[in-house]
Amino acid sequence: MTQAIKKAVLPVAGLGTRFLPATKANPKEMLPIVDKPLVQYAVEEAVAAGITELIFVTGRNKWSIPDHFDKAYELEAELSKHNKAKLLDLVQNILPPEVSCIYIRQAEPLGLGHAVLCAKPVVGVQPFAVLLADDLIAGRERGCLTQMVDLYNRYNCGVLAVEPVPKKETSRYGIVEIQTIEPRVGKIHSIVEKPAPEVAPSNLGVVGRYILPPDIMVILENTRQGAGGEIQLTDAIAKLLTKRTVLSLEFEGKRYDCGSKLGYLQATVEYALEHPELRQDFERYLHGLMAERLSPAQRKAG
Ligand code: G1P
Repeated sequence: MTQAIKKAVLPVAGLGTRFLPATKANPKEMLPIVDKPLVQYAVEEAVAAGITELIFVTGRNKWSIPDHFDKAYELEAELSKHNKAKLLDLVQNILPPEVSCIYIRQAEPLGLGHAVLCAKPVVGVQPFAVLLADDLIAGRERGCLTQMVDLYNRYNCGVLAVEPVPKKETSRYGIVEIQTIEPRVGKIHSIVEKPAPEVAPSNLGVVGRYILPPDIMVILENTRQGAGGEIQLTDAIAKLLTKRTVLSLEFEGKRYDCGSKLGYLQATVEYALEHPELRQDFERYLHGLMAERLSPAQRKAG
């Protein structure tokens, strides 16, 4: 029988160098998309997929993450004193009561594989999910992790979320080679971390969502530094493939690479355009801005 996926590991120890100086004292996972920090979107996706135990692998300068998911007595007292019921509800219900958070420190930035390995004592012997918060995924009807859990429940094996990436960008992703077994689903034959376009086995890039069996931990313990001098989750998955089936899922939805400034801005604009309080004003503003910015020639051509 398949074991339910109840635990999710969220590696949040990264230095966020691409967003310096904004991330000098604040974690990149706390950067907001409109009015919610990135990490909250990942947590909401995990909870919607049935996760009840969130394991954050944190590092220095990350105190605001546990604070965000904790009770905020003074703030709550102030909001309730001023009868701000809606806001009070917002801050009190970031997590449903059945969900618990566990924090583990990753002392050194030794890579994603190492971050996942840090969660070994809490993960134990169950299959688990990994979510990278800087990949923000707007699912269509169901979140990306929910789609992956459904596939896991059908096949009882590891699942990686993938999407086609431009060939020239393969060196930014784990790239898989698959055999399609049903629409959007493949059996992964090989996986390689950040290959140059000339040697990439395909253009299917892994995005930051994984469902993995617990034996990945033993493999990680024996995985040496790989690309970029880091202990790579991808290398451990490559070894896992020699004894276990792992599937790829081309999820339905849109991913924003919020680890890059452009992706972050795209997410901000598109989420603002969907935001119930903002969308009308923001759309009007964007139209106005575009009209102002376009040169007369472009305006004519358009
Ligand atoms: C990590 C993984 C990579 C994956 C990517 C998805 O890389 O190592 O395989 O494709 O996340 O976002 P990073 O973006 O942390 O360099």
